[in-house]
Amino acid sequence: MSPEKEIKKVTTNTIQKMKANGEKISMLTAYDYSFAKLFDEAGIDIILVGDSASNVMAGHTTTLPITLDQMIYHAQSVVRARERCLVVIDIPFGYYQSNSEIALASAIKIMKESGGHTVKLEGGEEIIDSVKKIVSAGIPVMGHLGLTPQSINKFGTYVVRATGEEEADKLRKDALLLQQAGCFAIVLEKIPAALAKEVSESLTIPTIGIGAGGDCDGQVLVMHDMLGINTDFKPRFLRRYLNLDEQIKGAVQQYVTDIKSRDFPNQDEQY
Ligand code: KIV
Repeated sequence: MSPEKEIKKVTTNTIQKMKANGEKISMLTAYDYSFAKLFDEAGIDIILVGDSASNVMAGHTTTLPITLDQMIYHAQSVVRARERCLVVIDIPFGYYQSNSEIALASAIKIMKESGGHTVKLEGGEEIIDSVKKIVSAGIPVMGHLGLTPQSINKFGTYVVRATGEEEADKLRKDALLLQQAGCFAIVLEKIPAALAKEVSESLTIPTIGIGAGGDCDGQVLVMHDMLGINTDFKPRFLRRYLNLDEQIKGAVQQYVTDIKSRDFPNQDEQY
């Protein structure tokens, strides 16, 4: 028998049991092999290959431009690094909204080509047929309600969503519909904490919050924000755990200085 201890992999069942047992769920985005490996080794429960790659990896101002093939490229890199965590992949804008057949084809392409474990879609009632179709094909689906960045042109702004009764009521109904359609979890983005608490308590599936307060069943952040790589983005909900922007710039400035001054490479750093 191998002396190595077998790693217990996180599955969608694990995530659902965590809610039942009152254990909080940790989720973080990643888009490449090296960071995904670090996050998996650090014990993250879920890596989200978010379409925020459009912003933080490609420099677009919204998530809309990223393509399905680009998402698959990022997802493949993350999956290669994964030993333990669950890998969730966003279906990008334009690849599921038109009808459920297209949505299923996109989900199948992601699953076949990336080796990831589940997909994530934004929206409620308007995408419910797609969610059902994907789930019935055996592909687990994570929902996403509240501030759904693929709809930024409808919202016109990134302010907190569902502060009014009408939008809050739609969100409550959508959350229930997504659960009934078979979603295994739902992201709640930038909504009042009291509403997120109410929705989380009303569902049997876990909620993962971003700017939705501490009563969600789990939390997610974008890696570039929490590691301080992207310092222009300073929403109230963000906790920054590192200041990589400063550290990386400092290291590169020192490297440039060392080359210019002929300090690098020294005698011990050559053959
Ligand atoms: O794309 C993304 O990073 C996301 C998170 C903000 C939840 O959807």
